[in-house]
Amino acid sequence: MAIQRPKGTQDLLPGTVERWQYLEETMRNVCREYGYEEIRTPMFEATELFQRGVGQTTDIVKKEMYTFLDKGDRSMTLRPEMTAAVCRAYVEDKLYGRPQPVKLYYIGPMFRYERPQSGRFRQFHQFGVEVLGAEQAVVDAEGISLVWNLYQRLGLNRLEVHVNSVGCLVCRTKHRAQLQDFLTTRRDDLCRDCQDRFERNPLRILDCKNPNCQAATIGAPTTCDTLCEDCSTHFGRVLALLGAAGVVYRVNPRLVRGLDYYTKTAFEVMVEEIGAQSAICGGGRYDGLVEEIGGPPTPGFGFAMGLERVLAALQVQNLLPEGKSRLFAMLIALGEKAQIEGFSLLSALRTQGIPVSIDLLSRSLKTQLKSADRQGVRYALILGEEELKQKVLLIRDLTLGEQTMVPLITAVKEIIKMYRRGV
Ligand code: HAM
Repeated sequence: MAIQRPKGTQDLLPGTVERWQYLEETMRNVCREYGYEEIRTPMFEATELFQRGVGQTTDIVKKEMYTFLDKGDRSMTLRPEMTAAVCRAYVEDKLYGRPQPVKLYYIGPMFRYERPQSGRFRQFHQFGVEVLGAEQAVVDAEGISLVWNLYQRLGLNRLEVHVNSVGCLVCRTKHRAQLQDFLTTRRDDLCRDCQDRFERNPLRILDCKNPNCQAATIGAPTTCDTLCEDCSTHFGRVLALLGAAGVVYRVNPRLVRGLDYYTKTAFEVMVEEIGAQSAICGGGRYDGLVEEIGGPPTPGFGFAMGLERVLAALQVQNLLPEGKSRLFAMLIALGEKAQIEGFSLLSALRTQGIPVSIDLLSRSLKTQLKSADRQGVRYALILGEEELKQKVLLIRDLTLGEQTMVPLITAVKEIIKMYRRGV
Protein backbone atom coordinates (compact mmCIF):
# COMPACT_ATOMS: atom_id res chain seq x y z
CA MET A 1 0.00 0.00 0.00
CA ALA A 2 1.21 3.49 -0.79
CA ILE A 3 2.46 5.45 2.20
CA GLN A 4 0.20 8.24 3.35
CA ARG A 5 0.96 11.51 5.08
CA PRO A 6 0.49 11.53 8.87
CA LYS A 7 -3.00 12.21 10.19
CA GLY A 8 -3.67 15.87 10.85
CA THR A 9 -1.09 17.15 8.35
CA GLN A 10 -1.51 18.66 4.90
CA ASP A 11 0.34 18.86 1.60
CA LEU A 12 0.19 22.40 0.31
CA LEU A 13 0.14 22.10 -3.44
CA PRO A 14 0.69 24.66 -6.21
CA GLY A 15 -2.58 26.53 -6.57
CA THR A 16 -2.96 26.59 -2.78
CA VAL A 17 0.55 27.68 -1.87
CA GLU A 18 -0.03 31.01 -3.64
CA ARG A 19 -2.74 31.79 -1.08
CA TRP A 20 -0.33 31.11 1.74
CA GLN A 21 2.26 33.34 0.10
CA TYR A 22 -0.31 36.12 -0.24
CA LEU A 23 -1.26 35.83 3.43
CA GLU A 24 2.33 35.62 4.64
CA GLU A 25 3.35 38.60 2.53
CA THR A 26 0.50 40.69 3.96
CA MET A 27 1.56 39.66 7.48
CA ARG A 28 5.18 40.58 6.83
CA ASN A 29 4.17 43.96 5.40
CA VAL A 30 2.03 44.82 8.40
CA CYS A 31 4.85 43.78 10.77
CA ARG A 32 7.27 46.01 8.90
CA GLU A 33 4.89 48.93 9.29
CA TYR A 34 4.62 48.31 13.04
CA GLY A 35 8.38 47.90 13.48
CA TYR A 36 8.50 44.17 14.31
CA GLU A 37 11.51 42.09 13.27
CA GLU A 38 11.47 38.42 12.34
CA ILE A 39 12.84 35.69 14.60
CA ARG A 40 13.38 32.04 13.66
CA THR A 41 14.01 29.44 16.34
CA PRO A 42 14.47 25.64 16.17
CA MET A 43 11.53 23.39 15.37
CA PHE A 44 12.30 21.34 18.51
CA GLU A 45 13.40 22.36 21.98
CA ALA A 46 14.21 20.72 25.32
CA THR A 47 10.90 19.32 26.66
CA GLU A 48 11.42 21.15 29.94
CA LEU A 49 11.05 24.51 28.18
CA PHE A 50 7.41 23.83 27.40
CA GLN A 51 6.73 22.05 30.69
CA ARG A 52 7.89 25.12 32.56
CA GLY A 53 6.79 27.71 30.02
CA VAL A 54 3.37 26.56 28.84
CA GLY A 55 2.52 24.93 32.18
CA GLN A 56 2.27 21.38 33.55
CA THR A 57 -1.50 21.55 34.00
CA THR A 58 -2.35 22.60 30.44
CA ASP A 59 -3.83 20.28 27.82
CA ILE A 60 -0.87 21.05 25.58
CA VAL A 61 1.72 19.74 28.03
CA LYS A 62 -0.43 16.97 29.51
CA LYS A 63 -1.72 15.46 26.28
CA GLU A 64 -0.61 17.10 23.09
CA MET A 65 3.15 17.26 22.83
CA TYR A 66 5.25 15.40 20.31
CA THR A 67 7.96 14.36 22.74
CA PHE A 68 10.79 11.95 21.98
CA LEU A 69 14.19 10.91 23.28
CA ASP A 70 17.00 11.74 20.90
CA LYS A 71 19.93 9.39 20.40
CA GLY A 72 21.70 11.06 23.31
CA ASP A 73 18.75 10.26 25.60
CA ARG A 74 17.67 13.89 25.86
CA SER A 75 13.96 14.56 25.96
CA MET A 76 13.02 16.80 23.04
CA THR A 77 9.67 18.21 21.95
CA LEU A 78 8.46 19.53 18.61
CA ARG A 79 7.35 23.05 19.43
CA PRO A 80 3.62 23.27 20.18
CA GLU A 81 3.80 27.09 20.23
CA MET A 82 6.40 29.82 20.00
CA THR A 83 6.09 32.06 23.04
CA ALA A 84 8.22 29.90 25.34
CA ALA A 85 10.81 29.45 22.57
CA VAL A 86 11.03 33.19 21.89
CA CYS A 87 11.47 33.86 25.63
CA ARG A 88 14.21 31.21 25.71
CA ALA A 89 15.98 32.98 22.83
CA TYR A 90 15.51 36.35 24.56
CA VAL A 91 17.44 35.02 27.55
CA GLU A 92 19.96 32.81 25.75
CA ASP A 93 20.82 35.32 23.02
CA LYS A 94 20.78 38.21 25.51
CA LEU A 95 18.18 40.21 23.65
CA TYR A 96 17.63 42.10 26.92
CA GLY A 97 20.91 43.84 26.07
CA ARG A 98 19.28 45.43 22.98
CA PRO A 99 17.12 48.55 23.02
CA GLN A 100 13.90 47.61 24.82
CA PRO A 101 11.30 46.51 24.17
CA VAL A 102 12.22 43.97 21.51
CA LYS A 103 9.41 43.47 19.03
CA LEU A 104 9.57 40.13 17.25
CA TYR A 105 7.37 38.21 14.84
CA TYR A 106 7.42 34.67 13.45
CA ILE A 107 5.67 32.50 10.90
CA GLY A 108 6.13 28.76 11.00
CA PRO A 109 4.82 25.26 11.74
CA MET A 110 3.75 24.12 15.23
CA PHE A 111 2.91 20.61 16.37
CA ARG A 112 0.18 19.39 18.69
CA TYR A 113 -1.13 15.87 19.04
CA GLU A 114 -4.81 16.86 18.95
CA ARG A 115 -7.81 15.05 17.56
CA PRO A 116 -7.85 16.25 13.95
CA GLN A 117 -11.04 17.87 12.69
CA SER A 118 -11.97 20.76 10.46
CA GLY A 119 -9.67 23.66 11.42
CA ARG A 120 -7.65 21.55 13.82
CA PHE A 121 -4.41 19.96 12.69
CA ARG A 122 -1.45 18.18 14.22
CA GLN A 123 0.94 20.25 12.17
CA PHE A 124 -0.41 23.76 11.77
CA HIS A 125 1.12 27.15 11.14
CA GLN A 126 1.16 30.24 13.26
CA PHE A 127 1.93 33.85 12.63
CA GLY A 128 2.62 35.58 15.92
CA VAL A 129 4.39 38.43 17.61
CA GLU A 130 6.07 38.78 20.99
CA VAL A 131 7.04 42.07 22.64
CA LEU A 132 9.50 41.67 25.48
CA GLY A 133 10.63 44.26 27.98
CA ALA A 134 7.63 46.61 28.33
CA GLU A 135 4.78 46.42 30.81
CA GLN A 136 2.78 49.39 29.53
CA ALA A 137 -0.83 49.01 28.47
CA VAL A 138 0.00 50.63 25.15
CA VAL A 139 1.95 47.48 24.19
CA ASP A 140 -1.15 45.32 24.61
CA ALA A 141 -3.27 47.81 22.68
CA GLU A 142 -0.74 48.08 19.86
CA GLY A 143 -0.59 44.29 19.52
CA ILE A 144 -4.36 43.91 19.36
CA SER A 145 -4.62 46.80 16.93
CA LEU A 146 -2.03 45.11 14.70
CA VAL A 147 -4.28 42.04 14.55
CA TRP A 148 -7.28 44.25 13.82
CA ASN A 149 -5.49 46.17 11.05
CA LEU A 150 -4.18 43.00 9.46
CA TYR A 151 -7.72 41.60 9.29
CA GLN A 152 -9.00 44.90 7.89
CA ARG A 153 -6.36 44.80 5.20
CA LEU A 154 -7.33 41.24 4.31
CA GLY A 155 -10.94 42.43 4.15
CA LEU A 156 -12.23 40.01 6.83
CA ASN A 157 -15.77 40.64 8.04
CA ARG A 158 -17.82 39.48 11.00
CA LEU A 159 -14.91 39.25 13.42
CA GLU A 160 -15.45 39.04 17.13
CA VAL A 161 -12.66 40.40 19.28
CA HIS A 162 -13.05 39.27 22.89
CA VAL A 163 -10.89 40.95 25.52
CA ASN A 164 -10.48 40.17 29.19
CA SER A 165 -8.07 40.62 32.06
CA VAL A 166 -7.09 37.49 33.98
CA GLY A 167 -5.17 39.61 36.49
CA CYS A 168 -1.82 39.02 38.15
CA LEU A 169 -0.90 36.10 40.37
CA VAL A 170 -2.51 37.79 43.39
CA CYS A 171 -5.85 38.44 41.65
CA ARG A 172 -5.81 34.98 40.13
CA THR A 173 -5.23 33.20 43.43
CA LYS A 174 -8.15 35.13 44.90
CA HIS A 175 -10.36 34.38 41.90
CA ARG A 176 -9.44 30.72 41.94
CA ALA A 177 -10.47 30.36 45.58
CA GLN A 178 -13.75 32.21 45.02
CA LEU A 179 -14.51 30.13 41.97
CA GLN A 180 -13.81 26.83 43.74
CA ASP A 181 -16.02 27.98 46.57
CA PHE A 182 -18.83 28.78 44.15
CA LEU A 183 -18.48 25.50 42.27
CA THR A 184 -18.13 23.14 45.25
CA THR A 185 -21.85 22.43 45.44
CA ARG A 186 -22.16 22.15 41.64
CA ARG A 187 -19.18 19.91 41.10
CA ASP A 188 -21.28 16.87 40.18
CA ASP A 189 -22.92 18.78 37.32
CA LEU A 190 -19.62 19.41 35.57
CA CYS A 191 -18.33 17.36 32.62
CA ARG A 192 -15.50 14.92 33.30
CA ASP A 193 -12.84 17.27 31.97
CA CYS A 194 -14.06 20.06 34.20
CA GLN A 195 -14.23 17.81 37.27
CA ASP A 196 -10.58 17.19 36.58
CA ARG A 197 -9.99 20.94 36.08
CA PHE A 198 -11.65 21.77 39.40
CA GLU A 199 -8.43 21.21 41.33
CA ARG A 200 -5.72 21.91 38.79
CA ASN A 201 -7.14 24.77 36.70
CA PRO A 202 -10.68 25.80 37.72
CA LEU A 203 -10.54 28.98 35.60
CA ARG A 204 -10.84 26.92 32.47
CA ILE A 205 -14.25 25.67 33.59
CA LEU A 206 -15.50 29.15 32.75
CA ASP A 207 -14.92 28.70 29.04
CA CYS A 208 -15.97 25.05 28.72
CA LYS A 209 -18.38 24.56 25.80
CA ASN A 210 -20.38 21.82 27.55
CA PRO A 211 -23.93 23.14 28.22
CA ASN A 212 -24.00 21.58 31.73
CA CYS A 213 -20.79 23.35 32.67
CA GLN A 214 -22.08 26.58 31.19
CA ALA A 215 -25.25 26.26 33.27
CA ALA A 216 -23.25 25.43 36.40
CA THR A 217 -21.14 28.55 36.04
CA ILE A 218 -23.99 31.05 35.59
CA GLY A 219 -23.37 33.75 38.18
CA ALA A 220 -19.88 32.46 38.99
CA PRO A 221 -17.31 35.08 40.03
CA THR A 222 -15.36 36.24 36.96
CA THR A 223 -11.75 37.33 36.70
CA CYS A 224 -12.89 40.95 36.41
CA ASP A 225 -14.50 40.77 39.88
CA THR A 226 -11.20 40.11 41.60
CA LEU A 227 -8.77 42.44 39.81
CA CYS A 228 -6.39 44.39 42.05
CA GLU A 229 -6.02 48.11 41.51
CA ASP A 230 -2.96 47.85 39.32
CA CYS A 231 -4.51 45.19 37.04
CA SER A 232 -7.76 47.09 36.89
CA THR A 233 -6.04 50.35 35.88
CA HIS A 234 -4.01 48.51 33.26
CA PHE A 235 -7.14 46.92 31.81
CA GLY A 236 -8.93 50.27 31.71
CA ARG A 237 -6.04 51.81 29.77
CA VAL A 238 -5.93 48.96 27.27
CA LEU A 239 -9.64 49.36 26.57
CA ALA A 240 -9.37 53.14 26.18
CA LEU A 241 -6.49 52.75 23.72
CA LEU A 242 -8.34 50.07 21.74
CA GLY A 243 -11.26 52.45 21.43
CA ALA A 244 -8.93 55.19 20.23
CA ALA A 245 -7.45 52.86 17.60
CA GLY A 246 -10.92 52.05 16.29
CA VAL A 247 -10.83 48.38 17.28
CA VAL A 248 -14.32 46.97 17.73
CA TYR A 249 -14.12 44.64 20.75
CA ARG A 250 -16.22 43.07 23.44
CA VAL A 251 -15.19 42.56 27.06
CA ASN A 252 -15.74 38.89 27.82
CA PRO A 253 -15.11 38.23 31.54
CA ARG A 254 -15.30 34.48 30.91
CA LEU A 255 -12.42 34.42 28.48
CA VAL A 256 -9.55 32.40 29.92
CA ARG A 257 -6.82 31.06 27.70
CA GLY A 258 -5.61 27.48 27.52
CA LEU A 259 -2.03 28.29 28.44
CA ASP A 260 -0.83 29.00 32.00
CA TYR A 261 1.44 31.97 31.44
CA TYR A 262 -1.09 34.77 30.98
CA THR A 263 -1.32 37.75 33.31
CA LYS A 264 -3.58 40.79 32.91
CA THR A 265 -4.76 41.14 29.28
CA ALA A 266 -6.04 38.07 27.42
CA PHE A 267 -7.81 38.21 24.07
CA GLU A 268 -9.15 36.06 21.28
CA VAL A 269 -10.56 36.70 17.83
CA MET A 270 -13.33 34.50 16.48
CA VAL A 271 -14.97 34.03 13.09
CA GLU A 272 -18.05 31.87 13.69
CA GLU A 273 -18.52 30.97 10.01
CA ILE A 274 -15.51 28.65 9.97
CA GLY A 275 -17.09 26.16 12.38
CA ALA A 276 -16.36 24.78 15.82
CA GLN A 277 -12.69 25.77 15.72
CA SER A 278 -13.57 29.42 15.32
CA ALA A 279 -10.64 31.03 17.18
CA ILE A 280 -8.40 32.51 14.52
CA CYS A 281 -6.14 34.35 16.97
CA GLY A 282 -5.31 34.37 20.65
CA GLY A 283 -2.84 36.01 22.96
CA GLY A 284 -2.19 38.25 25.89
CA ARG A 285 0.29 39.48 28.44
CA TYR A 286 2.69 37.12 30.22
CA ASP A 287 4.72 39.09 32.73
CA GLY A 288 6.17 36.10 34.61
CA LEU A 289 7.22 33.81 31.78
CA VAL A 290 10.78 34.94 31.10
CA GLU A 291 11.61 34.61 34.79
CA GLU A 292 9.88 31.23 34.92
CA ILE A 293 12.30 29.84 32.35
CA GLY A 294 15.34 31.26 34.15
CA GLY A 295 15.73 34.78 32.75
CA PRO A 296 15.62 38.22 34.34
CA PRO A 297 12.16 39.48 35.34
CA THR A 298 10.77 40.74 32.01
CA PRO A 299 7.24 41.67 31.06
CA GLY A 300 5.91 40.28 27.79
CA PHE A 301 2.93 40.46 25.47
CA GLY A 302 2.09 38.59 22.29
CA PHE A 303 -0.40 36.68 20.20
CA ALA A 304 -0.51 33.96 17.58
CA MET A 305 -2.97 33.16 14.82
CA GLY A 306 -3.47 29.94 12.90
CA LEU A 307 -2.81 30.44 9.21
CA GLU A 308 -5.08 27.53 8.27
CA ARG A 309 -7.98 29.15 10.12
CA VAL A 310 -7.37 32.65 8.74
CA LEU A 311 -7.30 31.14 5.25
CA ALA A 312 -10.51 29.25 5.96
CA ALA A 313 -12.16 32.52 7.03
CA LEU A 314 -10.90 34.30 3.90
CA GLN A 315 -12.18 31.40 1.82
CA VAL A 316 -15.73 31.38 3.26
CA GLN A 317 -15.91 35.14 2.84
CA ASN A 318 -14.64 34.92 -0.75
CA LEU A 319 -11.67 37.12 -0.09
CA LEU A 320 -8.86 35.12 -1.61
CA PRO A 321 -7.30 36.67 -4.70
CA GLU A 322 -7.57 34.74 -7.98
CA GLY A 323 -4.53 32.56 -8.57
CA LYS A 324 -3.00 33.97 -11.76
CA SER A 325 -0.34 32.23 -13.81
CA ARG A 326 3.05 33.67 -13.12
CA LEU A 327 4.27 32.73 -16.58
CA PHE A 328 4.31 35.55 -19.13
CA ALA A 329 4.99 33.38 -22.14
CA MET A 330 5.42 29.78 -23.23
CA LEU A 331 7.97 28.95 -25.88
CA ILE A 332 6.72 26.41 -28.38
CA ALA A 333 9.73 25.12 -30.27
CA LEU A 334 8.96 22.50 -32.92
CA GLY A 335 11.87 20.27 -33.83
CA GLU A 336 15.40 19.92 -32.57
CA LYS A 337 16.90 22.93 -34.36
CA ALA A 338 14.11 25.21 -33.16
CA GLN A 339 14.61 23.92 -29.66
CA ILE A 340 18.27 24.92 -29.71
CA GLU A 341 17.50 28.39 -31.11
CA GLY A 342 14.57 28.74 -28.70
CA PHE A 343 16.67 27.70 -25.74
CA SER A 344 19.01 30.64 -26.25
CA LEU A 345 16.00 32.99 -26.58
CA LEU A 346 14.58 31.54 -23.37
CA SER A 347 17.74 32.14 -21.42
CA ALA A 348 18.04 35.72 -22.71
CA LEU A 349 14.49 36.41 -21.51
CA ARG A 350 14.99 34.75 -18.14
CA THR A 351 18.17 36.77 -17.57
CA GLN A 352 15.96 39.84 -17.95
CA GLY A 353 13.65 38.52 -15.23
CA ILE A 354 10.79 37.56 -17.54
CA PRO A 355 9.01 34.37 -16.45
CA VAL A 356 8.89 32.11 -19.50
CA SER A 357 8.71 28.37 -19.91
CA ILE A 358 9.18 25.75 -22.58
CA ASP A 359 7.28 22.57 -23.27
CA LEU A 360 9.33 19.73 -21.86
CA LEU A 361 7.42 16.91 -23.51
CA SER A 362 8.03 17.75 -27.20
CA ARG A 363 4.29 17.73 -27.94
CA SER A 364 2.46 18.92 -31.06
CA LEU A 365 1.74 22.62 -31.67
CA LYS A 366 -1.97 22.17 -31.01
CA THR A 367 -1.45 20.36 -27.70
CA GLN A 368 1.12 22.87 -26.54
CA LEU A 369 -1.14 25.83 -27.36
CA LYS A 370 -3.99 24.22 -25.48
CA SER A 371 -1.81 23.50 -22.49
CA ALA A 372 -0.35 27.05 -22.42
CA ASP A 373 -3.87 28.47 -22.53
CA ARG A 374 -5.02 26.17 -19.74
CA GLN A 375 -2.16 27.38 -17.56
CA GLY A 376 -3.30 30.98 -18.08
CA VAL A 377 -0.16 31.98 -19.99
CA ARG A 378 -0.67 35.21 -21.99
CA TYR A 379 1.66 34.62 -24.96
CA ALA A 380 2.88 31.68 -26.96
CA LEU A 381 6.24 32.19 -28.70
CA ILE A 382 6.13 29.87 -31.67
CA LEU A 383 9.27 28.74 -33.41
CA GLY A 384 8.81 26.07 -36.09
CA GLU A 385 10.87 25.07 -39.13
CA GLU A 386 9.23 27.73 -41.32
CA GLU A 387 9.93 30.52 -38.77
CA LEU A 388 13.52 29.36 -38.45
CA LYS A 389 13.97 29.50 -42.23
CA GLN A 390 12.60 33.07 -42.30
CA LYS A 391 14.47 33.99 -39.09
CA VAL A 392 11.29 35.17 -37.37
CA LEU A 393 9.34 34.41 -34.21
CA LEU A 394 5.58 34.15 -34.12
CA ILE A 395 4.07 35.77 -31.03
CA ARG A 396 0.53 34.69 -30.35
CA ASP A 397 -1.68 36.47 -27.84
CA LEU A 398 -3.64 33.60 -26.30
CA THR A 399 -6.26 35.88 -24.78
CA LEU A 400 -7.10 37.88 -27.90
CA GLY A 401 -6.22 35.20 -30.44
CA GLU A 402 -4.07 37.68 -32.42
CA GLN A 403 -0.57 37.03 -33.63
CA THR A 404 2.42 39.06 -34.86
CA MET A 405 5.68 38.13 -36.46
CA VAL A 406 8.95 39.68 -35.28
CA PRO A 407 12.50 39.19 -36.60
CA LEU A 408 14.36 36.71 -34.39
CA ILE A 409 17.19 39.16 -33.98
CA THR A 410 14.96 41.76 -32.24
CA ALA A 411 12.62 39.26 -30.54
CA VAL A 412 14.14 39.60 -27.06
CA LYS A 413 13.91 43.39 -27.14
CA GLU A 414 10.33 43.22 -28.39
CA ILE A 415 9.20 40.80 -25.68
CA ILE A 416 10.90 42.83 -22.95
CA LYS A 417 9.00 45.89 -24.18
CA MET A 418 5.71 43.99 -24.08
CA TYR A 419 6.44 42.67 -20.61
CA ARG A 420 7.28 46.11 -19.23
CA ARG A 421 4.18 47.62 -20.83
CA GLY A 422 2.23 44.83 -19.14
CA VAL A 423 0.47 43.71 -22.33
P1 HAM B 1 -3.10 29.30 21.15
O1 HAM B 1 -4.43 29.87 21.49
O2 HAM B 1 -2.79 27.96 21.67
O3 HAM B 1 -2.02 30.36 21.64
O4 HAM B 1 -2.94 29.28 19.57
C1 HAM B 1 -3.10 30.45 18.82
C2 HAM B 1 -3.88 30.16 17.55
O5 HAM B 1 -3.26 29.10 16.82
C3 HAM B 1 -5.30 29.68 17.77
O6 HAM B 1 -6.19 30.77 17.97
C4 HAM B 1 -5.58 28.98 16.44
O7 HAM B 1 -5.93 29.93 15.45
C5 HAM B 1 -4.24 28.37 16.10
N1 HAM B 1 -4.19 26.95 16.49
C6 HAM B 1 -3.92 26.43 17.70
N2 HAM B 1 -3.95 25.08 17.68
C7 HAM B 1 -4.27 24.73 16.41
C8 HAM B 1 -4.46 23.48 15.73
N3 HAM B 1 -4.31 22.31 16.36
N4 HAM B 1 -4.79 23.51 14.42
C9 HAM B 1 -4.93 24.70 13.76
N5 HAM B 1 -4.76 25.90 14.35
C10 HAM B 1 -4.43 25.92 15.66
C11 HAM B 1 -0.68 30.20 21.50
O8 HAM B 1 -0.16 29.36 20.83
C12 HAM B 1 0.12 31.28 22.19
N6 HAM B 1 1.55 30.98 22.01
C13 HAM B 1 -0.24 32.64 21.64
C14 HAM B 1 0.55 33.73 22.28
C15 HAM B 1 1.64 34.34 21.76
N7 HAM B 1 0.34 34.24 23.47
C16 HAM B 1 1.28 35.17 23.72
N8 HAM B 1 2.07 35.21 22.69
